[in-house]
Amino acid sequence: MHSTAFQAINYNAVYLPFHIQPEQLPQLLSSFQVTGVQGFNVTVPYKEKIIPHLDWISPQAQLLGSVNTVVYQDGQWKGYTTDGNGFIRSLEAEGISLKEKHITMLGAGGSAKSIAVALLEKDIGSLTIHNRTQNKADKLISILKKFPGNISLSSKLEDHQSIDVLINTTSVGMLNDQLPVSPEVIKKSDFIVDIIYNPPKTSLLKLAESNGKKTQNGLGMLLYQGVEAFEIWTQKAAPVETMKRALLDSINSLNA
Ligand code: ATR
Repeated sequence: MHSTAFQAINYNAVYLPFHIQPEQLPQLLSSFQVTGVQGFNVTVPYKEKIIPHLDWISPQAQLLGSVNTVVYQDGQWKGYTTDGNGFIRSLEAEGISLKEKHITMLGAGGSAKSIAVALLEKDIGSLTIHNRTQNKADKLISILKKFPGNISLSSKLEDHQSIDVLINTTSVGMLNDQLPVSPEVIKKSDFIVDIIYNPPKTSLLKLAESNGKKTQNGLGMLLYQGVEAFEIWTQKAAPVETMKRALLDSINSLNA
């Protein structure tokens, strides 16, 4: 996705995978500096471990305690998190506004936290976090309550609650045809997003569609977290359609 995008805008760069060991992390940035690496992504298990090695991290990355995108700029290594903003941009690209919306999120893990922190920066109406393990939802809500703003936050999904946007961040539906929530909750939701992109249509999205609901899978979030990273590295608008085609090609070849 990234190398194709660099080529598309004639940007002199390539995107390469590096398989490093935890003990090599301290030398990584100095070797990148020597070799002229301009930026990189970080994935599990380095999203937290990279932080002490950076000169600056964005306020959102600070709130999350997690970084997935690093850039070398003005002599400093700077860390960002692009998952949450990528998620929001993927909705905006489909013309979905979150302003004053009542949002229910299923799951309270790392993905849920990234999305929740980004949602708090939007003018949403309310956020409910519903999780199999209640105390994890309680804990996430209590962290979110520390942030400024007066968005209504809850870890209890009430029966009478109407839902504008339902977001599944759990892995339920990735490997089997289970639903992450009851059909009743799906029926009273207007718009349903599953951050799973493989399979492209989970049971949640299939049931939602058969009830006439608008849906979106996780491909958009995957695309736009990359779009955000690309723009941080290059300071240029990302060629989104090119990136989308490259992403779809690589997912199709994985499934072939
Ligand atoms: P990620 O980084 O993708 O968010 P994670 O941090 O491991 O992954 O979080 C996984 C989420 O999926 C959690 O909210 C988890 O619920 P628990 O906190 O109860 O573990 C949820 N999850 C995973 N498998 C589930 C299942 N079979 N039923 C319901 N929730 C599930």
